[in-house]
Amino acid sequence: MPEESKKNTKVMVVAGTRPEVIKIAPVIKKLQNQPDKFKTVVVATAQHRELLDQALSLFNIKPDIDLNLMNPQQGLPELTGRVLESMSVTLSEVNPDIVLVQGDTTTVFASVLAAFYQKIPVAHIEAGLRSYNNYSPFPEEMNRRLTTAMTDIHFAPTLSAKKALLREGIAVDKIVVTGNTVVDALMHISQLPFTFNDALLGNLDFDKHRLVLVTSHRRESWGAELENICKAIKTLVEKHPDIIIVYPVHPNPIVKNTAKKILGGINRIYLVDPLDYITFVNLMKNCYMILTDSGGLQEEAPTLKKPLLLLRDVTERPEAFDAGLAKIVGTDQRKIILESDNLLNDTQLYQKMVNSRNPYGDGRAADRIVKALIRWVKGENQLLTPFEEFNAQAD
Ligand code: UD1
Ligand code: UDP
Repeated sequence: MPEESKKNTKVMVVAGTRPEVIKIAPVIKKLQNQPDKFKTVVVATAQHRELLDQALSLFNIKPDIDLNLMNPQQGLPELTGRVLESMSVTLSEVNPDIVLVQGDTTTVFASVLAAFYQKIPVAHIEAGLRSYNNYSPFPEEMNRRLTTAMTDIHFAPTLSAKKALLREGIAVDKIVVTGNTVVDALMHISQLPFTFNDALLGNLDFDKHRLVLVTSHRRESWGAELENICKAIKTLVEKHPDIIIVYPVHPNPIVKNTAKKILGGINRIYLVDPLDYITFVNLMKNCYMILTDSGGLQEEAPTLKKPLLLLRDVTERPEAFDAGLAKIVGTDQRKIILESDNLLNDTQLYQKMVNSRNPYGDGRAADRIVKALIRWVKGENQLLTPFEEFNAQAD
C-alpha cells in the first residue's frame, strides 16, 4: 500500500473492450478530477479496436498508452498471451501504485495476472458476479473468479455479489458495495440532448411500430444457438406485423456471418453496424423490449424500465430476474418465440416487468469507488461505512 506522505497515487486504469470503457469511464473522470490525489494513467489494450474507439471517443477519453492488440478472429490463448506480455512490459515502465480493472474480459484477467507477477495491488470493479457455471458465460465466469483470487480491493456492485465473495473467503474489509458504474454512465448519457440523424434510424416510427432491440455475441452461443436465436427473431417478425427489429451486429465475423445469413434482407429487420453508446442508449429508451445475451444490457434495461429476455441459460446478474424485471429464456427457438409472444401480447405481464426499483445501482458508484480508493491510500481499515455503500432498498 502506498505511504500516506506520498503526494499523489499513480492509478493505472486498464480497458480493452467496449463494455469496459463504458463502465470504467465514470471512474476515470472522477479520478482525473482529483489530480492532487491521483495520477491517472489510462492503458487501452485494444483487445477491441473499432468498438473501443467508438466508446472512448464518446466519453472523450484519450488513452495514455494504447497497446493496439486486436487481431482479426483472435483466439483466447493468443489474446491472453499478448495481453500478459504487453501489460507486463507496460507495468514495468509505468510502475503504478495500483491497477484498476473492470469486469470479466481477457484484458482484465491477463492484466491482473501481469500485476500479480509484479506484486502490484489490484482493485476490481464489478467483482463477485457468479453464474456458477464455468462454461457460461465462457470464458468470463473463470476470468472473474481468477481475477478475484488476485485482487486486493473488490468493488462489488450489489449485496449479492458481496455475499458471493464472502462465501469464497474474501475478507469483509476488502469488499465495498458500490452499485454498478454502468448506471452512472447510462444516467449521464441518457440525459444528453440527442436526435437520430442516421438515415435509417432517423426514419423509424416508434409509434407505428414497436421496437424490439436485439444483441447477441456470446462465444458459447456461436453456431447452433446463435442460429436458433436468429431463426426465432425471423419468426417473431412474421407473426407480429407491428414490430420492427434493430440488431446492431457485433463485428466478430462468426457472429456477423450467421446474422446476415439468416436475417439479411428481411422486411422490418434492420441489421446495423455497432452503434455508438449514445445512439444505442436512445434506441433502448425508445424500444418496447430487449432480447439479448449481453452482460451490460441486463443492468441497463431495468434502469430504463424496459423488460429484457435473456438469450442464455444462466446469469451472473440475478437481481433483475429475481425482481421479475427480466426473464431467462435461453437459446431454444420455441422458448424465445413463446416468451416474446407473451410480452408482446400481454400488457399486464409487460407492466409487471417494468414497475420496480433498479437493483443494480443509483448512479453514484464512481463516487464510492474513488472515495474508497482515497481511504485505501490513507491506510484506513474501513473503505466505506455501510451507510455509504450502495443499498438497493434505500430511497
Ligand atoms: C469480448 C469479451 C466479452 C465481452 C465482449 C464485449 C473476452 C474473451 N471476451 O468478446 O467478454 O462481452 O468482448 O463486446 O474477453 N472485432 C472487431 N472489432 C472490434 C471488436 C472485435 O473486428 O472492435 C472482431 C475481431 O475479429 C476480433 C473478434 O471480433 O478478433 C473477437 O473479439 P474478442 O474481443 O476476442 O471477443 P468478443 O467476442 O468481442
Ligand atoms: N452497446 C453499444 N452499442 C451497440 C450495442 C451495445 O454501445 O451497438 C453497449 C450496451 O449499451 C452496453 C455495452 O455496449 O453498455 C454492452 O457491450 P457488449 O454487449 O459488447 O458486451 P457485454 O455487456 O456482453 O460484456
